[in-house]
Amino acid sequence: HRNGVDFAVADLSLAEYGRKEIRLAEHEMPGLMALRREYSEVYPLRGARISGSLHMTIQTAVLIETLVSLGAEVRWASCNIFSTQDHAAAAVVVGPHGTVEEPRGVPVFAWKGETLEEYWWTAESMLTWPDGTGPNMILDDGGDATLLVHKGVQYEKAGVVPEAGADDPEEWRIILETLRRSLAADPGKWTGIAGGIRGVTEETTTGVMRLYQLAAAGDLLFPAINVNDAVTKSKFDNRYGIRHSLVDGINRGTDVLIGGKVAVICGYGDVGKGAAESLRGQGARIVVTEIDPICALQAAMDGYDVQVLDDVLDRADLVITTTGNKDVVTAEHMSRMKHQAILGNIGHFDNEIDMAGLQRYPGIRRINIKPQVDEWVFPDGHSIIVLSEGRLLNLGNATGHPSFVMSNSFSNQVIAQVELFTKHEEYDREVYRLPKKLDEKVARIHLEALGGRLTKLTKDQAEYIDVDVEGPYKADHYRY
Ligand code: NAI
Repeated sequence: HRNGVDFAVADLSLAEYGRKEIRLAEHEMPGLMALRREYSEVYPLRGARISGSLHMTIQTAVLIETLVSLGAEVRWASCNIFSTQDHAAAAVVVGPHGTVEEPRGVPVFAWKGETLEEYWWTAESMLTWPDGTGPNMILDDGGDATLLVHKGVQYEKAGVVPEAGADDPEEWRIILETLRRSLAADPGKWTGIAGGIRGVTEETTTGVMRLYQLAAAGDLLFPAINVNDAVTKSKFDNRYGIRHSLVDGINRGTDVLIGGKVAVICGYGDVGKGAAESLRGQGARIVVTEIDPICALQAAMDGYDVQVLDDVLDRADLVITTTGNKDVVTAEHMSRMKHQAILGNIGHFDNEIDMAGLQRYPGIRRINIKPQVDEWVFPDGHSIIVLSEGRLLNLGNATGHPSFVMSNSFSNQVIAQVELFTKHEEYDREVYRLPKKLDEKVARIHLEALGGRLTKLTKDQAEYIDVDVEGPYKADHYRY
């Protein structure tokens, strides 16, 4: 606590540096700045108490301060143990008008290099307001905040938090421990919090998948907006963001020459497409693995070799997972990779690469090269280089996606927060998407910022293709 703001960040004195980068980022985030102007006298989020769980970067700082400028109270944590930029976290706590001695910003609980225990503590702190109540809105990335609330309610109703099974991942044991502790302190905590929540807006593919699973089982406790599947999110952030930040993460982590190397991209969805383009841009020879024949055929048509991982391990210099699935690269795969081959994941969770299996591999030895870069030496003497311990490497080894693309994603987030906060009675406990007209609005702002000029339909043309002159210009089933 300092000056009434509670927080847990690495170093508050980094705030000035953070503030300078936030100032530069604001210029690169025209969507968020346009929303600030549009709502400058309306404060549509007045009364909103938003708990946010999303990578605490410079771009997220601009998002947070946009939510605040629309009237919201906000508490924040990162959604990954390595993704925080400590200067961004410090600047948000200090706020645009505060000082290190007298912070006047937003409570942030995030630092780069949290342990998993600390991570779940930050998640709980972000969801627990100083007066003991909870948020009335959640802004989530990957669904961890939503998961904590839902599991809390489930175990509260059952009257007991189960023990983790022997085969459960270590992280699950920590989540259960966190809930056990919180329920011992306040047995009604999570039901109380869930009861006050008007809705959640979810940022990424993996979190959206979790939401649809909850909704299908009838377990979703509040309405949700799937921000990821706004076209101006997943077709831009997941693709062009990755095109920028994958190569950035590999370079900062290893500085290995990518040209001429064989790079295997596992998964050819939106992220995979950006990943392949990123490495092709450096002259890598790309191999794609896929389970879906449509995406596999797309990869082939885009000029990539489509193979199965087993068959290409002996020639792969880099292996990058982008699937959002689990166990895509096993310890056995890793043992067969080339000497000093680089392995990294850019999907949301670290279970795409079987890190637990690697740690258990008989005779394995880990040499830490620098933070978020490890060499794993097999008993035969050959080694592989694993980035960010198998967690998303663009945010672990570099600074994630750049501002301009995140301005698209976060404009959708802000619009979704306003929508659910102000009109929650109109929504059921289901997962919704934003109307296309808003997607087009977000695109329009960013196109203008790039100096692009849109052709205007004539009335006659609009009638001929059966759309309104002002849009939306495509049917909902159009795929872009
Ligand atoms: P997507 O669903 O468009 O693509 C995933 C692809 O992986 C699909 O085409 C699927 O068929 C394929 N796949 C699934 N299992 C596979 C397997 N065993 N082997 C090979 N391919 C397999 O999802 P999207 O949007 O591309 O997201 C992928 C992951 O990246 C998600 O976890 C998402 O949350 C995350 N993400 C990470 C970002 C970052 O900054 N690091 C940004 C955006 C998304």
